Amino acid sequence: MISVAIDGPSGAGKSSLAKRLAADLGYVYVDTGAMYRTIGLYAARQGADLHNADAVAALLPQIRLDIRLEDGTQHVYLNGEDVSEAIRAEAIGMAASAVSAHPPVRNFLLDTQRSLAANQNVLMDGRDIGTVVLPHATVKIFLTASPEARAQRRCKELQEKGQNAAYETVLADIRQRDYQDTHREIAPLKQAEDAVLVDTSDIDFDQSFALLKRTILEHI
Ligand code: C5P
Repeated sequence: MISVAIDGPSGAGKSSLAKRLAADLGYVYVDTGAMYRTIGLYAARQGADLHNADAVAALLPQIRLDIRLEDGTQHVYLNGEDVSEAIRAEAIGMAASAVSAHPPVRNFLLDTQRSLAANQNVLMDGRDIGTVVLPHATVKIFLTASPEARAQRRCKELQEKGQNAAYETVLADIRQRDYQDTHREIAPLKQAEDAVLVDTSDIDFDQSFALLKRTILEHI
């Protein structure tokens, strides 16, 4: 089985690039961020203190998470409800970042993530795929871009959706999420030793796609 691990900070273009690469290569795309977002959504809806590991861990037995591929797109179901849209809210990204720091949450998702890669070719994106989830991945890529470049792209994306966001606020959120993700004790965001570093600050989507595809094909 071939597994491609793509890790990196939020807003580097990981999920759009990963989705397109997976379709192009004929691999199954697994978005692990969506799984953390779903737990963040549930915990936020329950009014839990997201930074309290015990409070969040106590909710895990109530969560049934299903990942289904529908028309080539990953849909996430939380206790039977399709939450694929709801988990994309900015606040839920923050909630995901908070709950993902708790070891019980990470353990809860680890088996699901590993089993998805056990019997099919996958392209999995996240923060700890190359370091923890799939340490023996066929190809590992660390995809990054400067916080400013990521904030600019995020603002543009939000504008296109008709939501206005101040650049400074988006940049501050990105920096805060980077800090949380890189400083947590368990599975922090960091480049695996054997990962290829790809920086997309100064290249556009198509150039990033071409570079990533070439990198993957060179390694499989
Ligand atoms: O990639 P995305 O922005 O959807 O991820 C949301 C949050 O989930 C991240 O900020 C990170 O804290 C967490 N996450 C993680 N490990 C992963 C994927 C996401 O901790 N493999």
